Amino acid sequence: MLPGDKSISHRYAMLAGFAEGTSRLTNFSTGADPHSSLGCMEAMGAKVSLEGKTISVTGTAGVLGQPAGDLDCGNSGSTMRMLAGLVAAQEGVYRFVGDESLTVRPMERIRKPLELMGARIELTEGHAPMTVRGGALKGIDFEAPIASAQVKTAVLFAGLQARGTTSIAEAVRTRDHSEHALRAFGARLERADGRLVIEGGQKLRAIEATVPGDMSSAAFFLCASLLFEDSNLVLDALGMNPTRATLLDVITSMGGVIKVLDVQEMHGEMSGTIQVNRGRTLRGIEIAGALAAQLIDEIPVIAAIAPYTEGGVKIRDAKELRVKESDRIALVVKNLRAMGAEVVEHEDGMDIPGGQTLRGGVIDSGMDHRIAMAFSIAALRAEGETEIRGAEAASISFPEFYTWLDELAIR
Ligand code: S3P
Repeated sequence: MLPGDKSISHRYAMLAGFAEGTSRLTNFSTGADPHSSLGCMEAMGAKVSLEGKTISVTGTAGVLGQPAGDLDCGNSGSTMRMLAGLVAAQEGVYRFVGDESLTVRPMERIRKPLELMGARIELTEGHAPMTVRGGALKGIDFEAPIASAQVKTAVLFAGLQARGTTSIAEAVRTRDHSEHALRAFGARLERADGRLVIEGGQKLRAIEATVPGDMSSAAFFLCASLLFEDSNLVLDALGMNPTRATLLDVITSMGGVIKVLDVQEMHGEMSGTIQVNRGRTLRGIEIAGALAAQLIDEIPVIAAIAPYTEGGVKIRDAKELRVKESDRIALVVKNLRAMGAEVVEHEDGMDIPGGQTLRGGVIDSGMDHRIAMAFSIAALRAEGETEIRGAEAASISFPEFYTWLDELAIR
């Protein structure tokens, strides 16, 4: 069973730590990032314990404590941005720090709406260290200027506690795990006239939940299965939330044959078993517009297998990739070239011609988990050996990645 979805685990960690009662979360992500969220919630008074594959979180019943020191978000942008919204409405001062990569990631995007609601936020040249001075907030009508589920979540978590109503309009629909999670924990949340609407002053209660497998982790094996004509991959309990499952359409367009064997639903999140085989050809694809936003975490691995496609891969409107855990456009281009591929870099994407043969090379992960894993997949079909420098970064989202890869490669 794939480890639990990173995005859902973050939200469950934060809301369980905020709710009243003890939540029991099974198949919680094993990645370091969601554990940063758990650690921050513990620092603010939640009690966390592990029993086998289940994490129990006893929440703070809506009153977060003043942490003794800084809130350490590690490598996790999700922790820093979403938690800022949760603490913005609390009486207290919260200083957020992160590792070298997180310290240069943009935080202005959450400062603006949270300050409009009444919080005060100090950034260091637009980045962490970030100090949130929380207090009573008022609801706002927010027009999201960039497609970001993290920003949407920060506003929703603040709106949950604000005076009055908060509404959010998104130009591009981003992943909706926060909406499902808030409802699961008992909040009322509506969609009206294309806006997401949340009333302030709501209380949350604990839940029992199983976190579905992570589609963005599955992506590496789904793309690997496209590289081998006789591949047969079955993944069970895989998260299939429609706002996360765009990759399945891409795999199909590229020549994969996907059968959905069963589907279940829990707390609004769908999960199921899928079987993937590859057809005769591996076709190229163009990713642009809303598709780029919906596939943002999967683009590195799609790009890494692009040279093996027939028609090549064209990526546009993906400028956000430059401000992820690394500049993912620059690193994908650099590493494809290190394997001998031809690639043209654009400010918001790249063009990777198809029909290329890659050779093994030395890969620089930039300590970015998705780059390390993406190029491990590219290496499977390359001629010769590939060395991934900083391969251990995979543990940010998928510590079991290399064990899985070993097992799947043998079969
Ligand atoms: C995430 C949203 C995306 C994604 C990230 C996780 C989330 O980021 O890239 O890995 O869990 O909400 P943005 O909100 O910055 O687009």
